[in-house]
Amino acid sequence: MMAARDGTAAREAEPIIRCRGVAKRFGTQTVLRGFNLDVMPGETMVIMGGSGSGKSTSLRMMIGSIPPTEGVIELFGRNICAMDEDELNGVRKRFGILFQSGALFNSMTVAENVALPLHEHTDLDPEIIDIQVKIKLELVGLREHADKYPAQISGGMKKRAGLARALALDPQILFYDEPSAGLDPVTSAQIDQLIIALSKQLGVTSVVVTHEMDSAFTIADRMAMLDKGRILKVADRSWYEALRDEPTDVAAKRGEDERLIRQFLRGDPDGPITERQSSDAYEEALFGPEPERVLLPTPSLEPTRR
Ligand SMILES: Nc1ncnc2c1ncn2[C@@H]1O[C@H](COP(=O)(O)OP(=O)(O)OP(=O)(O)O)[C@@H](O)[C@H]1O
Ligand SMILES: [Mg+2]
Repeated sequence: MMAARDGTAAREAEPIIRCRGVAKRFGTQTVLRGFNLDVMPGETMVIMGGSGSGKSTSLRMMIGSIPPTEGVIELFGRNICAMDEDELNGVRKRFGILFQSGALFNSMTVAENVALPLHEHTDLDPEIIDIQVKIKLELVGLREHADKYPAQISGGMKKRAGLARALALDPQILFYDEPSAGLDPVTSAQIDQLIIALSKQLGVTSVVVTHEMDSAFTIADRMAMLDKGRILKVADRSWYEALRDEPTDVAAKRGEDERLIRQFLRGDPDGPITERQSSDAYEEALFGPEPERVLLPTPSLEPTRR
């Protein structure tokens, strides 16, 4: 594969995804303020950020399902924003998407779900498709459940089935939106290992949107922190690890963006994110300015992660 996890050779290659000045507005709401992001072949890029920070919206633009208001998104060196639907469908065959719910068709078995993209996008014989489906189900550990319907399998199995379907056309890029959301810790860890295995064994490039920090640190080669429609930082996982583990007195000397990232990584109850929330003038808009607002301490909110 193309030097994914050591990150060195991959850096010299051309990006497989290039975002430049990508902004998105819905009506008067600016969701993304114009971000730049390069994803290199073979790497796993984790995009993290709080709820509503614009993660899913970024992903939806990268897969060409909604257009950016401004900016350019290139996949495989070609601007997808300038493509018509036919051209876009050609590009879509080269990447897979794992949606939050798995997005399986309930009236089809697991195997039929995985076979669907092959029927839709290839002229392969049914026997060949059968073999392809078996290989993909084996990859995600679902071969024995091929003939079950989505209602008959667990949430984690649905995720894996969705992943097998995303892999059906041997994509070069896999996009994941919250792959471990709603899963128990062990199942979630299994999905993480699967993402790593696909990257190592098949050399796929992965873009993973998540706010699960354990998962992010397990799978990422590089990470991008999104906050209120801005990418605050794109860096190697090791940079984020060092920031997370930095002693509080040292970190206190950092700028606001990095202190904010650190709070997010650690799940600390206090820091720039909470200060900002408390000063967000919602209450003031409702009740008028308060002479002195006291933030109650939240002793029950111990950080659950380092
Ligand atoms: N189609 C849409 N029309 C209008 N507003 C939208 C649309 N899609 C997203 N938004 C808004 O964009 C903002 C970012 O949403 P997005 O789904 O990208 O957040 P997110 O970072 O994925 O959050 P979460 O972690 O909760 O999934 C939200 O305020 C949302 O209401
Ligand atoms: Mg989302």
